[in-house]
Amino acid sequence: MPQTLTITDNRTGKQYELPIEHETVRATDLRKIKVKDDDFGMMVYDPAFMNTASVKSKITFIDGDKGILRYRGYPIEQLAEHSSSFLEVAYLVLMGELPTKSQLDEWRYNIKHHTFVHENIKKLMEGFRYDAHPMGMFISTIAAMSTFYPEAKNIFDPESRQKQILRLIGKVPTIAAFAYRHTKGLPYVYPENELTYAGNFLSMMFKMSSERYQVNPILEHALTVLFILHADHEQNCSANAMRSIGSSHVDPYSACAGAAAALWGPLHGGANEAVIHMLDEIGSIQNVPAFVKDVKDGKGRLMGFGHRVYKNYDPRAKVIKKMAYEVFSVTGKNPKLDIALELERIALEDDYFVKRKLYPNVDFYSGLIYQAMGFPMDLFPVLFAIPRTVGWLAQWVEHISDADQKIARPRQIFLGADERPWTPIEKRS
Ligand code: CMC
Repeated sequence: MPQTLTITDNRTGKQYELPIEHETVRATDLRKIKVKDDDFGMMVYDPAFMNTASVKSKITFIDGDKGILRYRGYPIEQLAEHSSSFLEVAYLVLMGELPTKSQLDEWRYNIKHHTFVHENIKKLMEGFRYDAHPMGMFISTIAAMSTFYPEAKNIFDPESRQKQILRLIGKVPTIAAFAYRHTKGLPYVYPENELTYAGNFLSMMFKMSSERYQVNPILEHALTVLFILHADHEQNCSANAMRSIGSSHVDPYSACAGAAAALWGPLHGGANEAVIHMLDEIGSIQNVPAFVKDVKDGKGRLMGFGHRVYKNYDPRAKVIKKMAYEVFSVTGKNPKLDIALELERIALEDDYFVKRKLYPNVDFYSGLIYQAMGFPMDLFPVLFAIPRTVGWLAQWVEHISDADQKIARPRQIFLGADERPWTPIEKRS
């Protein structure tokens, strides 16, 4: 079977044969299609990248119709069930293979020796107002880190690059916890490197006295699983931001800050907070049918439902839903769970949602768990950003190592005014 696509331009009657590779044609091959020799050539118009592959990647695979998610080939369900720690999965996502015992020990050691932040970073964070949003603090502090590590601009020096990766993964939980403690007016708690990645984060968040914070193993495990589920998700809005910013060859702190900003929006990482607001607004199970009707009438969206890629149950949501019960066995049930379950039950039977293939996504149940664990709502996007830093870094390394890539620069269809002469101000109407 020839791996080509033949296109006939009905304006000219000319035919063009384009090579097909990996079920795609190169958009630049379309530029041959012209009416006149000095035409720019044919482009594709694809707002929001609905059908455009902008990268070749080996990191994360999603089959949205079948509800499959794999990091480096390993199904997310298996990683969630069997991984010994978040850092094991972080190694896999970044390095491409599961680590051996000695590789994992070295990786853990290296990351744990980068968990402390410079005291000036602490001072910088103290400068935020008492009611600053922790995600705004997180984004700004990540951006500020580029000023502490100016050598980070040497992105093609493998040693320097690896150092920044270790620093970012090591420090994001510390910055996140400091942001929380700042808003509460609590003293910052320094990292304890003998704890796990998730356990240390819980300790920096919730420890109150000088004694070691006794992390609950069920909650620690739940947070580890949540971190694993959020580590990467191929070319989503923030990964695309990371790659796009990184394509200018800026340092990884600046690129990560931009990716985190992209994550903050309510259509991306801000959705789990929006779910809690929605459940609060619904208030009780009796109000669920009326709420669903309002959504169908176009009065708002069912937050935590729907996905650009998944047209089936989000596999992460399945794992989280199961885990919610384990967490609630420790914390007590989040009273909003019953509303969420009823919402899901009604939506999954309703023609509107069935026809549009709208299923619960990762954010539908995660907020309920975070809330039950004692995390305030405005910290939810920060909780997403901690593990996703690993994914951003993996996407960034792949991007800047890819010979096919250049600085990201989309084209536009210009529909504005044609050339016109300058008008003096007194003659303008
Ligand atoms: N509630 C009600 N209707 C919806 C929803 C929803 N949550 N999501 C999509 N639709 C409808 C939408 O109105 C449209 O209907 P119609 O064809 O009649 O105009 C159709 O489904 C297709 O929607 P779309 O907006 O074209 O789909 P999209 O791929 O551009 O949007 C989405 C994906 C995730 C932004 C969207 O489903 C949404 O806004 N969901 C709620 C927010 C949310 O939960 N976001 C978290 C995403 S998962 C975490 C992450 O990856 O960041």
